[in-house]
Amino acid sequence: MASGKLLRQLIKTGSEGNLSAFREASEQVIRDERDKKHHLLANDLEKILYGHSSNTSPEFSVLNEHLPKDLEKNLPLVQVRNPVRRLEDVVLSGVNTALLDDLFEEYHRIEVLKSHGLRPPDRLLFCGPPGCGKTATAEVVASELGLPLIIVRIDSVVSSYLGETASNLRQVFDFAASFPTVTLFDEFDAIAKERADASDHGELKRVVNAFLQMLDDYEGKSLLIGATNHDGILDSAIWRRFDEVLVFKMPNLSQIRRLLSVKLRGLRRDFDVEDKNIIELFQGMSHADIERVIRRAAKSMILAGKEFLTERLLKTAIQREDARRARQKRA
Ligand SMILES: Nc1ncnc2c1ncn2[C@@H]1O[C@H](COP(=O)(O)OP(=O)(O)OP(=O)(O)O)[C@@H](O)[C@H]1O
Ligand SMILES: [Mg+2]
Repeated sequence: MASGKLLRQLIKTGSEGNLSAFREASEQVIRDERDKKHHLLANDLEKILYGHSSNTSPEFSVLNEHLPKDLEKNLPLVQVRNPVRRLEDVVLSGVNTALLDDLFEEYHRIEVLKSHGLRPPDRLLFCGPPGCGKTATAEVVASELGLPLIIVRIDSVVSSYLGETASNLRQVFDFAASFPTVTLFDEFDAIAKERADASDHGELKRVVNAFLQMLDDYEGKSLLIGATNHDGILDSAIWRRFDEVLVFKMPNLSQIRRLLSVKLRGLRRDFDVEDKNIIELFQGMSHADIERVIRRAAKSMILAGKEFLTERLLKTAIQREDARRARQKRA
């Protein structure tokens, strides 16, 4: 919270109708909140004061007009998303939280860095098993920076005629360089893993090399994120091209507890999320699995006309999740 002195100044200047002094005091509050790393609050305050956040986010209509398209099929190579997920909606490890805090601070104070000839990281790699928050965190990064999220559809980039693939990639990189966005190369290994495969088609290898070259040469307005769940496949040549690597893991017990309180927000229940027995029910599941179990249990509760979510409903939903996973393993 802002200091008492600042609050007095804010209310005094506001009630006196002294607009310039009020603005100055408000800007000081925003700076204070940013210094305390309360970026979401600072962004909200900035929006209230100026009607927008200090990031100049491109209009969706402008982005849609310039979307890169597959020349052969005339289909868009990327999806544009308005990010809604916020930092408090995801459960992250301490290391990842610290990395993101630093990243946000560098972007929010980008002008200071630039004046010293420095720039924030603009190439991140997200690794980890499915359902542990890679895509969700990319959305959080975009919303925190007040930028649209662009998801590169690797399947459409790669599966078109091979000769076209490099030119599709070129278009995607040019688009990312021209407009300030967070651009996610989701399942990035669809391009990257081919490099390790000796029986590889020669042209595909050239495409991978072209991709790495584009990543090397990239200097643009967007923050690029590569996401993969096969980190073992990625060779060191790929790792070193990213400024920061965030590793996502299956949740531990304390992360499960935090996840339960996030996902059960607003649901009436007859158990305590701090209860160790409840937390342990979810051990070994990914964040996405846990979310699915809770959604399933909540639906059963509603359809059965019950008022409270119970441990029993959770257990039934977990049994169905286990059966689902067993089927998945056999398939
Ligand atoms: N760390 C997390 N905190 C909160 N919710 C999460 C987290 N991870 C995943 N989820 C939930 O699970 C869903 C799927 O997660 P997400 O798409 O981010 O996984 P992913 O790591 O990108 O998986 P994949 O490798 O399959 O692409 C999300 O929409 C989100 O609601
Ligand atoms: Mg994903």
